[in-house]
Amino acid sequence: MQIHLLDVLACPQCGGKLTCTATEMDSVGEVSRGRLYCVSGAHQYPIEDTIPRFVPRDNYAASFGYQWNKFKLEQLDSANGTKLSTARFYSETGWTKDWLKSKWILDAGCGAGRFLDVVADSEAEVVGLDISSAIDAARVNLAGRKNVHLVQASIYQLPFRPGVFDGCYCIGVVQHTPDPQQTMRTLPRVLRPGGRIAITAYERKRWTMLHAKYLLRPLTKRVDKQKLLSGINGAMPILFPLTNVLFRLPLAGRLFKFAIPVANYVHEGSLTPQQRYDWAILDTFDMLSPQYDQPRTQQEIEQALSAEGVGELNRLPNSGVNIVGVKNGAGQERI
Ligand SMILES: C[S@@+](CC[C@H](N)C(=O)[O-])C[C@H]1O[C@@H](n2cnc3c(N)ncnc32)[C@H](O)[C@@H]1O
Ligand SMILES: [Zn+2]
Repeated sequence: MQIHLLDVLACPQCGGKLTCTATEMDSVGEVSRGRLYCVSGAHQYPIEDTIPRFVPRDNYAASFGYQWNKFKLEQLDSANGTKLSTARFYSETGWTKDWLKSKWILDAGCGAGRFLDVVADSEAEVVGLDISSAIDAARVNLAGRKNVHLVQASIYQLPFRPGVFDGCYCIGVVQHTPDPQQTMRTLPRVLRPGGRIAITAYERKRWTMLHAKYLLRPLTKRVDKQKLLSGINGAMPILFPLTNVLFRLPLAGRLFKFAIPVANYVHEGSLTPQQRYDWAILDTFDMLSPQYDQPRTQQEIEQALSAEGVGELNRLPNSGVNIVGVKNGAGQERI
């Protein structure tokens, strides 16, 4: 943890100021082990492996901890040679590299850090927050990027002072939380007036809950994660070539995608066949393993954001439901 992260941190339980005692520093002057103390005297949190830990290591999102530590690098542009995460980040936030300059940005639910990897290339200071041990995958992936900070914490109890962020994005997360509406309502509170927010979630349409993955999940989410992954690994040599043919069929392809819960991105030309195979394993596991998967409608996202004073709501034409907005208040834009 870099000491200047204390400028934005606050006790997630009472909002009190935090101070830090280091018991171990690393070679670049970051706190690798220590404790954060709340001024109230009632709360304290460990810093382990350079990351402040505001939640117990084990929680409902453990499947994601397992997933992102197994598949650390697959979706990182800096590792896979594509620009897929970069393109997604800029199209789903509507922000520019120029706007990011000198801003404080929050990645809520950062996973292995595919989007932190993008923002790290700008002149923003970015904080990646995740409840699961995915944060440790992000630590390895983002090591040495001085403008990236990490915290293991929950969106439901954000460890930040109100209004400290200029921007917050939350991509692919809200449907995986126990109360998605509440999840979305917590985020605007850490934005300054004029701060920008971007949320992308799976969209719930009339037929969504009949998708094969939703029919299988009540079973698969209960299966031991290692066993589930070896099952997917075992079946993929058959399912991948099969879905390569079926998903490409005109018209019927869409039906097959609905009926076969395999994440084979047959139309994604920038991945090599081997990368597409690896992503199919990763994202099929991601479909079948999470404790929660509660897709949202555009209206639900807009309701949650506007209840917290977010205006200028706009749906961007990306897959899923992708809403951006601006926190109301004085002094709208800071240059
Ligand atoms: C599908 S992954 C998406 C990760 C990343 N945003 C991406 O697109 O690659 C969802 C992430 O949300 C995290 N998550 C779930 N509930 C959370 C909560 N209450 N607070 C913080 N993170 C949470 C999970 O641990 C997981 O890493
Ligand atoms: Zn406190």
